[in-house]
Amino acid sequence: MKPEIQRISQISFDQSVICILGSDQIPERLKLSKQETDFAHTQLQTKEEYIFINSYNRCTYLIRLKEGIAHYKVREELRRTSYNLRKLIKENNHSELVITSEKTYNGAIEDFAEGLLLSLYSFDKYKTKPGKDDKNFYPKKLLLQGELMDSEIKWLVDLTDAVYFTRDLIKEPVNQLNATSLAGEIKKIGDSAGFKVEVLTKNKIEALKMGGLLAVNKGSVDPPVFCILEWHPSNCLNKKPIVLVGKGIVYDTGGLNIKTGEFMAGMNGDMAGAATVTGVLHTIAKTGIPLHIIGLIPSTDNRPGGNAYTQGDIITMFNKMSVEIGNTDAEGRLILADAISYASKYSPELIIDIATLTGSAAMTFGNQAIAVMTNADRKYINLLEECGNDVYERIAELPFWDEYGELLKSDVADLKNVGGREAGAIIAGKFLERFTEFPLIHLDIAGTEMLRKDNYYRLKNGPASGLRLLSTFLKRIAANYSEKR
Ligand code: BES
Ligand code: ZN
Ligand code: ZN
Repeated sequence: MKPEIQRISQISFDQSVICILGSDQIPERLKLSKQETDFAHTQLQTKEEYIFINSYNRCTYLIRLKEGIAHYKVREELRRTSYNLRKLIKENNHSELVITSEKTYNGAIEDFAEGLLLSLYSFDKYKTKPGKDDKNFYPKKLLLQGELMDSEIKWLVDLTDAVYFTRDLIKEPVNQLNATSLAGEIKKIGDSAGFKVEVLTKNKIEALKMGGLLAVNKGSVDPPVFCILEWHPSNCLNKKPIVLVGKGIVYDTGGLNIKTGEFMAGMNGDMAGAATVTGVLHTIAKTGIPLHIIGLIPSTDNRPGGNAYTQGDIITMFNKMSVEIGNTDAEGRLILADAISYASKYSPELIIDIATLTGSAAMTFGNQAIAVMTNADRKYINLLEECGNDVYERIAELPFWDEYGELLKSDVADLKNVGGREAGAIIAGKFLERFTEFPLIHLDIAGTEMLRKDNYYRLKNGPASGLRLLSTFLKRIAANYSEKR
């Protein structure tokens, strides 16, 4: 259960407190005894990550801000400390916990709270009894004390709510969540957050001739879906919408080019891009960001069934281009390509797709960076990089030269769905680029999403990579529009 966030004006004597310190001075309002204060001062000299004081009826946690590093790294250190503290906090069974700060920067409380909320997440809906490590019932409330803006607190709540449900969706196994049930979940989220969701089912997808999505679906016994999410507030500032496209492969076996050994593990998370797009729309709608945003989510599983698509098949995509299938495991780009060409009907300002697309992106950047490829104006990538540092979902750009696209040439069709072994992430991006005339930013989250162990509060097996990045990016775009007015 996600702890509730509340704002308080004063700390009472019996409340346990986390206090972030910008100097060695310990504020009076923590009401530590002389002995405790002396102890804290000695501990502050040792530069330990945190100081813990147990005063029988309450606990105090002190965290000294890091100095001499870039501001965005100071912020990240706080989020990481919250992760390192999570076990101790749970063990102490606080039903409520105050977070406050002294002589720090604006936003320190929110940063720590964000890290802690994301660190306390767990997926235990299928456990009939909590295990000994699942002390997930405390704290029930985080009480924020300090000079805080209501809008900032609301953003924190909306965004972390989105991370929670996005992670839940990513973690669902395919026997619990197929394409149709994913669409049902998206609809529910849309209804509660206030954005529109239209679900195109198989008949409609056939009528539209979305050949990529239909080809990947051929080996499945479950039908595909294509979800259209829309947030179009009356006060929106952009004339042309920004379209987000998310890869919704609810399970990737590889198809007939079946994945072997350990490579299939975790492939229920191959719809992380789709879940993340849903999370972004939730946050934007809940916050009321004045932008017109569309989300497109093509979804199916990829399996070797009786009529599965095969290597050598030639298919016709939604935009009428023909594609020779070189590998059925390069399925993500096929369903995304249909969605990206479908986006043309909106004449978008920008298309951003997000996908667990290639092992190559993971091999290149590990879990440290989202691989980005783009042909859009540099102002977008500059802003994305800035947001990436701020929320610490950093991006790293790969070259997007046309020569890489030449590797996709086919003898029998307009295009092949694979190139060679080298530069796999870039070639996948180049494939997608062929399906639109509009500016594209392609985010490959294969490395940052499929974590085998926690990367601090980016918890393993589906941390919802890119959700905080894209939500913040759109919020900033809206703010830039407002400034120009
Ligand atoms: N879903 C995978 C990519 C992936 C791999 C995500 C590992 C996360 C971790 C994608 O559909 C895939 O299988 N890509 C192939 C493409 C290849 C056949 C050209 C890959 O990367 O090996
Ligand atoms: Zn695949
Ligand atoms: Zn895949």
